[in-house]
Amino acid sequence: MAYDTTELSMIIAVDGPAASGKGTLATGLARHYQLPHLDTGLLYRAVGLAAAAAVDRPDFEAVAIAAAKSLTPDELTNISALTAAETGVLASKVAVIGEVRAALFAFQRNFATQAGGAVLDGRDIGTKICPEADVKLFIQADSKARMERRARQLEARGVAVNRYELFHQIEERDARDMANPHGGFYKADDAHLLDTTHLDIEAALRAAIAIVDKAMALKAGGQKPS
Ligand code: C5P
Repeated sequence: MAYDTTELSMIIAVDGPAASGKGTLATGLARHYQLPHLDTGLLYRAVGLAAAAAVDRPDFEAVAIAAAKSLTPDELTNISALTAAETGVLASKVAVIGEVRAALFAFQRNFATQAGGAVLDGRDIGTKICPEADVKLFIQADSKARMERRARQLEARGVAVNRYELFHQIEERDARDMANPHGGFYKADDAHLLDTTHLDIEAALRAAIAIVDKAMALKAGGQKPS
């Protein structure tokens, strides 16, 4: 039986590496449970874009911190520029700056704790932004599968893709994200691992919904998930 979201507030944290499918899953979960959804990667991408001109300058950090502090929702609307592969690399460069993360923290916290709950996807939702989330999913998929998925997403939008370059961009981002001293990019102890390497979107979403339903049923029954 599906979990009835009208009865309880529910925060779902979806974390995972670049192109793991976490964004698609978070969107599907938000639709299924009728919850608002925040793609937190877009915040870092918007800051990366705003600081792009300074990327090789000594004042890059200061420019990125100022951009994070003054970020407005209007800057989250240019989806084609925000989702470009190069913007992902820029995002991972601003994401290692502690003051950038601190400046983006309150916005994410407020979103997560709104009445009724929310779905957030990113790298540190279950570990730093919302350690109290009701359900945590950690999505993984092997790097070749992730590259191929991202390539097809970009191609569907008419973007020409160099797969070799894209693979290296994803690996570069993974390495920077995992070494991020201010990060939190690891699977929380109480997160459910979902490997989507061999799952299509529908199968992955069904698996994610089954995990959420089970976790919420246990919670409603006052039990701790195993
Ligand atoms: O999720 P997405 O690939 O759009 O994220 C872009 C980059 O933003 C990541 O590679 C990571 O460096 C950073 N990020 C982060 N913490 C988050 C979301 C994204 O550090 N919660």
